[in-house]
Amino acid sequence: MFDVDKLKGTERLFKIENFLFYQRLPSTQDRAKELIKTSSARQGYVVITDEQYRGRGRFGRTWKSTQGASLTFSLIVEKVPLLSMRTALSLLETLEDLCGIKGEIRWPNDVVVNGKKICGILIEIYKPLAVVGIGLNVNETTPPFSNATSIRLETGKSFSREPILSCFLQRFEYNLHIEGTMDILRGRLSFIDSYVEIETEGGTMCGEFFDLGEEGEMLIRTESGTIKGLLAGEVKKIRELNKI
Ligand code: BTN
Repeated sequence: MFDVDKLKGTERLFKIENFLFYQRLPSTQDRAKELIKTSSARQGYVVITDEQYRGRGRFGRTWKSTQGASLTFSLIVEKVPLLSMRTALSLLETLEDLCGIKGEIRWPNDVVVNGKKICGILIEIYKPLAVVGIGLNVNETTPPFSNATSIRLETGKSFSREPILSCFLQRFEYNLHIEGTMDILRGRLSFIDSYVEIETEGGTMCGEFFDLGEEGEMLIRTESGTIKGLLAGEVKKIRELNKI
């Protein structure tokens, strides 16, 4: 079972008494939202579970995690610019520091290793607060969904989840307010300088992904030369630029 008392070094923003651990829960995201609505939680609260049986993903999808194997939690923080990317960056740094895994950010905020998703992030705003939901595959021995991986699958080793969460929270707290995030992020993105197809709510778009805008939007240059900035979407396919 996840042991909140083993967490270390997170006491500034995320104090131990504000960690709410549940053995089983439909969704940490929904629980965090309920706590905000009833004013029982504020910035710095963490809702975490060992078994999430109705997890939610982006675009209304479900999120599958394996009981006791993953880190499944939601953080309540004040909304800051580039929150989803700051979160993804903190996860990349944690994977590198603790597990020796080099990952990438697949815009807008999936964390991928060797092209497979290791972590999903869902950010929902309840002004002035944001709920940052994170599902990180840690000790799964089989991928919990298609094209997924886990720390165990990548390294062949199992990991205690508490040090991973402690490291992530320290990184996250630091990265929440640093300047120059955008430059760091540019170097950690999958598909930058490639030709991409992006599925958005308004339909599918294609173009060269050449940069990030100030708000973290994906800047693409379409074949007609028009520049577009996308704030949400899912990168579906890529081609190398020289194959257009
Ligand atoms: C995605 O990749 O679509 C985002 C997945 C986010 C999953 C996490 S797990 C913890 C939190 N609770 C939920 O119900 N969803 C998020």
